[in-house]
Amino acid sequence: MRDSPKVELHLHLEGAVPPSFVRGLARQKSIDISGIFDEGGNYRYRDFAEFLKVYEAATAPLTSPEDYHSLTRAVLAESAAHGVIYSETFLSPDFCGARDLGAWREYLHAIREAAEAAEAQDGIILRGIVTCIRHFGPDAAREVALCAAETAGDWVVGFGIAGDETAGKPRDFAWSFDMAREAGLRLTAHAGEWAGPQGIRDTLRDLRVERIGHGVRAIEDLALVDELAEAGIVLEVCPGSNVALGVYPGWRAHPIGQLYDRGVKVTVSTDDPPFFHTTMTHEYDRLSEAFDWDDGVFATLNRTAAEAAFCAPETRAQILKRLETA
Ligand code: ADE
Ligand code: ZN
Repeated sequence: MRDSPKVELHLHLEGAVPPSFVRGLARQKSIDISGIFDEGGNYRYRDFAEFLKVYEAATAPLTSPEDYHSLTRAVLAESAAHGVIYSETFLSPDFCGARDLGAWREYLHAIREAAEAAEAQDGIILRGIVTCIRHFGPDAAREVALCAAETAGDWVVGFGIAGDETAGKPRDFAWSFDMAREAGLRLTAHAGEWAGPQGIRDTLRDLRVERIGHGVRAIEDLALVDELAEAGIVLEVCPGSNVALGVYPGWRAHPIGQLYDRGVKVTVSTDDPPFFHTTMTHEYDRLSEAFDWDDGVFATLNRTAAEAAFCAPETRAQILKRLETA
């Protein structure tokens, strides 16, 4: 599965930072983050709340555009090694310049330069989705939305929300999503990971997104599953993340198989690969074992992902062609 071409729609750039990378930067800058690692040098957390704290602590040594340049190169080299030909990554102005627009532009410039170099070297294409963080609150989200709107274009193509889904309500963030939509950005939101079907319904109604990050807990309400299928809402499913964080006890218990069988547009991504000891190859291998999925199913998932990508039509045509000729 490693070499088959893959499209990934849900990857957090900070969530993809390898522990060794972050340790190296922390050492250079004399920042002590030793508490976030276990004896094996991997990220240590027991539950989702702790995961969010460790995630944030791991961003502490990422203090400059140059750090994000190196990070982007490292992340894209790893993605390309697992067959990813197109990736959309969540970018957080909260961590890139503390939501200051001038600083954000500098971080974005460095990330884009790194993406161009990776495309020239490995052929992998990257696009950005600016994301606000739910537990940082609606006021911070507005500042993030302004950063997104000011830099919207052919590379920053989307706007989203991540973080603690139990904090606040989707409608608290409607202003930010309206602003992003008016700037021409396409919309996605994390929902149905930690909250149940009602969280997905509220998100669709109040934020009017076309994709949902995770969305897997829709399975608890089959009428909602039918509505998602009917409306063509795309789910950015990250099964390895759900299993690692304990949303489901194992791969066979994961609802992606049922969602696919019921006609929902599902796609597969890694979310925060080093945190969950996963890669795109690992996701595909585990899914193939758990649900007996063959190459035909994975081809369908990748076509769905390419069609749901937020990039320009010419880029989509290029990706679909590479998928077809594989
Ligand atoms: N940010 C990074 N990973 C996340 C996840 N799985 N859920 C919510 N926010 C996140
Ligand atoms: Zn996510």
